[in-house]
Amino acid sequence: MKRLLRGGRVVDPANGRDGMFDVLVDGDRILRVGRDLAPDSDTQVVELPAGLVVCPGLIDMHVHLREPGQEHKETVATGTAAAVAGGFTAVACMPNTSPVNDNAGVTEFILKKAAEAHLARVYPIGAVSRGQQGDELADIAELKQAGCVAITDDGRPVATAMLMRRALEYAGMFGLAVIEHCEEQTLKADGVAHEGFHASTLGLRGIPGEAESIMALRDISLAALTGGVVHIAHMSARQTLDAVRYGKSRGVLVTCEVTPHHFVLTDEMLAAPIPYDTNVKMNPPLREAVDRDAMLAGLADGSIDVIATDHAPHHYDEKRVEFDHAPFGITGLETAVSLCLDRLVHPGVVTLSRIVELLSVNPARILKVAGGSLAEGAPADITVLAPDLRVKVSVERMRSKSKNTPFDGWQLRGGVAATIVGGRVVYVNEDVSGFSRTLRRELR
Ligand code: DOR
Ligand code: ZN
Repeated sequence: MKRLLRGGRVVDPANGRDGMFDVLVDGDRILRVGRDLAPDSDTQVVELPAGLVVCPGLIDMHVHLREPGQEHKETVATGTAAAVAGGFTAVACMPNTSPVNDNAGVTEFILKKAAEAHLARVYPIGAVSRGQQGDELADIAELKQAGCVAITDDGRPVATAMLMRRALEYAGMFGLAVIEHCEEQTLKADGVAHEGFHASTLGLRGIPGEAESIMALRDISLAALTGGVVHIAHMSARQTLDAVRYGKSRGVLVTCEVTPHHFVLTDEMLAAPIPYDTNVKMNPPLREAVDRDAMLAGLADGSIDVIATDHAPHHYDEKRVEFDHAPFGITGLETAVSLCLDRLVHPGVVTLSRIVELLSVNPARILKVAGGSLAEGAPADITVLAPDLRVKVSVERMRSKSKNTPFDGWQLRGGVAATIVGGRVVYVNEDVSGFSRTLRRELR
C-alpha cells in the first residue's frame, strides 16, 4: 500500500531539504519526496493539517527501558509506547538492567520484547564490563553480533583508565562507539546535587562540575591515544563542553549529548517550587545558569552533536522518600520534543533543521543505524511535528509506567502530531485536529 503525505513542511537536512514537499511512502520505505506528486489509484492520500512539519524519525540514543529485571519501573512495551507518543521512532537502551546486558542472551531478550511490542525500533547498547563491575571487558564481539549498537557502563563511569583504553581499542575493531557516563567517583563521592549555593543552603552533599569534566578529559585523551570513538553522555557542566571542544579541535573522535533538562533547568529547582523535590534529582545533577547557558550556546554553535533524554523511569514509591535516599533520574521521552520546540526553536536558539540533526541525523550517524534521512529507499520512519500546538504536560496522560518528571503541568508551545515507523502509523495525537480518519483508524 502506498501513502502520500501532503501539505507538510519537510525538514530533512541530510538531503538538504526544507520546504513544502509531498512524501510518498510505499510499504515500509520512502518512495519519493517531491512537489505535486500524483497519487495512483491504490495510494492513500493524507492531507496534513496546516502548519505541520514532516521530518525523519527522531532517535533517542539514551533511554533506560528497565527490562529485564525492573519491570515495575518500565518495560520495553511501555517504554516504546512512551517513545512513539514522544515522537521517537527509535530508541537505544542502556544496559544497566538486571541482569546487565553484557551478553547475547540479554540483548536477544530485549530485541524479542521490542518485536512483540512492535512500536518504536529498539537498539540495545551493551555493557563495557561484565556485570558493569568495571573489572573485565564484556564480550564485545558477541554483543555486536547479537545486535548491540554501542557499549557503555552507563549509570556509572568506565571504572579505570586501562579498562577504558581497552574498551576503545576493542570496540574500535567492531566500529562501535564507547558511550561514557562521565563521573570521577572520588569527587562525586556520595553527592546528591550540584555543589553550589542551593545544595549548601539546603544541606545537600554537592557534586562539582569537575567530577564530570575530569572524566571527560581522561576519556578524550584515551580516544586520542587509541583512535577509538568516545561519546560523552548527558553533559551537564560547562567545563565538560570545554573539554569536548578541546578534543574536537584536535581531531579526536569525540561526540557528545545533552538532555532537555540540562538545557532547560538549573539547580534553583532544588529549592523551589517544591523544596527537596526528588523529581529534580538526577545524575549528573542540574547545574547553574552559566552551565545551562553554556549548553544552549553549544547547541547553537554546533559543538553539541545530540539531544538525548536519559529517560530514567523510577517508581513513585522509590522516589517518594528523602532526597538523599531517592534514586537518580527522571523520565524524558514524552516531554523532549515540546521542550526542544518551546525552549530552542521558538526563541530562535536553533533552527528546526538543526533540531532534526540533533534528534535524528546525528544519533543515526553515531550509532550507525538506519534513519536520519528521508532519502528515496530509506525506511519510512517519519515524525510529524506540530510546532505551534499548545501542550500542557500531564503525567496522567503519559504512557511511561513511571511518572517521575519535574515538568508536570508545564505549558509549552510545540508537540508531536504523529509517528510513523516503517510505514506504520504508531501514534496520532488526538489534540491535533484535521487528521484523516483513516490515519486514526489504523491505530486501532
Ligand atoms: O539519573 C540517572 N539515572 N543517571 C544515570 O546515569 C542512570 C539513570 C538510571 O538508570 O536511573
Ligand atoms: Zn548516565
